[in-house]
Amino acid sequence: MALVTSTEMFKKAYEGKYAIGAFNINNMEIIQGVTRGAAKMNSACILQCSKSALNYAGPKYLLGMVKAAVDETGIDVALHLDHGPDLDTVKVCVENGFTSVMFDGSHFEYEENVAKTKEVVDYAHAHGVVVEAELGKLAGVEDEVKVDAANATYTDPDQAVDFVQRTGVDSLAIAIGTSHGAYKFKGEAKLDFDRLEVITKKLDDAGFKEYPIVLHGASSVDPAVIELCNKYGGALKGASGIPVEMLRKASGMAVCKINMDTDIRLAMTAGIRKSFVEKPEAFDPRGYLGVARDMIQELVEYKIEKVLGSVDSMK
Ligand code: G3H
Ligand code: 13P
Ligand code: ZN
Repeated sequence: MALVTSTEMFKKAYEGKYAIGAFNINNMEIIQGVTRGAAKMNSACILQCSKSALNYAGPKYLLGMVKAAVDETGIDVALHLDHGPDLDTVKVCVENGFTSVMFDGSHFEYEENVAKTKEVVDYAHAHGVVVEAELGKLAGVEDEVKVDAANATYTDPDQAVDFVQRTGVDSLAIAIGTSHGAYKFKGEAKLDFDRLEVITKKLDDAGFKEYPIVLHGASSVDPAVIELCNKYGGALKGASGIPVEMLRKASGMAVCKINMDTDIRLAMTAGIRKSFVEKPEAFDPRGYLGVARDMIQELVEYKIEKVLGSVDSMK
C-alpha cells in the first residue's frame, strides 16, 4: 500500500510463478488507467518512465501523480526509470523519489557496460533504490536508439552470471527474441526459452537463487486494437507482437517483470480515434481522454489476468 521498491514484488512473483507488469507512463490518464486496472485485479504494478517521458512530463509531475494514484488505489507501486542512459538521469530520478532505476548500457562494449552499471548500482543502493540493467541487444526502437534485427544479439548465459556478480545489479533484462515497438516479427514469433532456462540455471548455480529476469519489448500488439485504430483513420500496417501464451510461459519461469508500452499507446490511440470519429461535434478533452483511460484500464486488467498472472498479488 505504498510507493515501494520491486524487491518484495519480485520475490513473491518468482515463488508464485507470475510476473509484475511494468507499464510506461507519461500523463495522468495513463497513470489512472493502469493503477485502476491493477487495483481492480488486486495486483501490484510497476510504473516506468523513459528519459523522453521525463522530458515530456517532468519528474515532479510524474512523482506527484503516481503518489496520488497510490493514495487513491491503495496498491503497491514501484516508480521506475526505464532505459536510463546515464548516471545523471539516474540521479535526477533518485532525487525525485523513484524507487527503482534501469541503467541500459547494452549498446556499450561489455567491460564498459559492467563499469557504468556498477557505478549506478553503488549510487542507487546508497540511496535505497534498486537497479535493473540489460545485457544483449533487443531489436526495435527505444527512445532515440534504433537497433535493426541484424544487430540484435541474444544474451550470453555465462556473461550474464559474470555481469550480475561484478555489478551487484538487482534484476537483469535479457534478449531472447522480444523487440521494442509495434513491428516485432515479420514471420512467426519465436522466443528462446532454452536460453532463458540456461541463464536461470547458471545464475542459480552461482548462488543467485530465484534471480529476477526482466523482459522488455513484450507488448502483444492485439490485432483487434490495430483493426480499431485503422477502422477509425489509422494507418498501422504489418504490426505484430509477442503472443500471449509465450508471455504467460515466461512469467511462470524466472521472468518477474514484463515491460509493455506499445500496447498502452495503441489502446489510447484507438480510444481517441474512435471518439473523434463517433462524436465529431465534441471538443471536451475529458470526453476522448476519458474513453482512452477506460481502454487502458481494460487492457491492464486483461494483462494481469491472462499474461502476467499477478491477480491478488496484493494479498
Ligand atoms: O522501451 C522504450 C519505451 O517504449 C519508451 O519509449 O522513449 O518513446 O517513451 P519512449
Ligand atoms: P513494447 O514496445 O513491446 O511495449 O516494450 C516496451 C518496453 O520494453 C519498455 O522498456
Ligand atoms: Zn524496453
